[in-house]
Amino acid sequence: MSTQPTSRFGDEAVPLELLRARAHNQRWAEQPDDVIPLTAADPDFPAAPVIRQALIDYVSSGVFSYGPAGGLFEFRQAVARHWRQQRSADLDASGVIAVNSAAAGLALLCRHWLSPGDEAIIGDPVDFLFGHGVRAAGGVPVTWPIDRFTPLDPADLERYLTPRTRLLCLCNPHNPLGRCFRRDELETLVRFCLERGIKVLSDEIWSEIVYPPATFTSLLALAPELAANGAVVHGFSKSFGLAGLRVGYVAMADPEAAARLLAGSEQPSTVDGVSTLSQVAAMAAYSPDGLAWLAEFQAHLRQRRDQTMEALQAMPGVQAIPPEATYVAWVRLPPGSASAETVVAQLLERQRLAVVPGSPRWFGQRAAGHVRLCFATSAGVLAEGLERLAAGLEEAARQSG
Ligand SMILES: Cc1ncc(COP(=O)(O)O)c(C=O)c1O
Repeated sequence: MSTQPTSRFGDEAVPLELLRARAHNQRWAEQPDDVIPLTAADPDFPAAPVIRQALIDYVSSGVFSYGPAGGLFEFRQAVARHWRQQRSADLDASGVIAVNSAAAGLALLCRHWLSPGDEAIIGDPVDFLFGHGVRAAGGVPVTWPIDRFTPLDPADLERYLTPRTRLLCLCNPHNPLGRCFRRDELETLVRFCLERGIKVLSDEIWSEIVYPPATFTSLLALAPELAANGAVVHGFSKSFGLAGLRVGYVAMADPEAAARLLAGSEQPSTVDGVSTLSQVAAMAAYSPDGLAWLAEFQAHLRQRRDQTMEALQAMPGVQAIPPEATYVAWVRLPPGSASAETVVAQLLERQRLAVVPGSPRWFGQRAAGHVRLCFATSAGVLAEGLERLAAGLEEAARQSG
């Protein structure tokens, strides 16, 4: 594979001025100009031309009436078709509900399934949104230790169950571990949950960013009774760079369950609901041109993953396992390092590099001693970021040695 970046994802394609004005959530717009932010997982590239054109066309038409509560019918159809064609999942448009992003889908499902005091199992480590969604619904997150390689084992999970356990939250592929769960481990686990009346929420927002030979299996591609024991959350922030449009969906194998979810939400009252413009962009993402753009982005990311791993492996004492999926690297700091928070603060102050610390607030207790960096940028920006990381860790090692 060529190491030359394609021009669509080359250094010149990173619109720094626009990012410095618009990219928030710890990224360019929230950092001084000389800082490289490999922080929130959000690509540094403009969206696919087909998405931009679809937005232009819709805006030019000038009609912005209310959309249906569950999302535009065409949107729901486009999602269902995508899942049937790309993911071998038996999904009907009536099982799809448009939501304001994956984060909103996660929160909606937690509110729907949890009553105050109910317990939900979440991984440790895992993205903070799981604990946040459970707590916001009045539930209690119970953390289940997980790592990059140990198979998900129901016998182990059983130790964390109580009579109040209602929900198992899966992040597949996993942020920040970069792991794809195997079909057989998912089947065993979801069956175990089904037999105990525990629902499964599968956040699959990372499922398009998978590096062969790794393969992804969706909850919705399991046997019908397993697929119907939960819901998938998905969105367009990671694969298509549409985070600011706040659009995603919940997908359920059981259309009646989806109808109940929608009826119990604030979408029919119009308090909540997804901008029709955002749904138009999302539909274009799943068009043939949108998927062709995604394939190029995936090829670019694979090169950036390898670039990141090569650089990390050359840093003394650092441990990082190449992710099977996602565009984040989960980096174990060298033994004897200061806390991740201290290292991150020093990297920012002295090297002008921003990364996310493995703090309980972001990822859980087991994230201690790690930092997470996002490599969805150009080869040049990434090289500079990785050089700064190497320089910062070298300096820290000199000081502690
Ligand atoms: C696992 C996971 N779920 C949800 C989100 C948020 O996605 P969205 O921007 O669509 O809310 C993220 C963002 O990093 C994520 O990693």
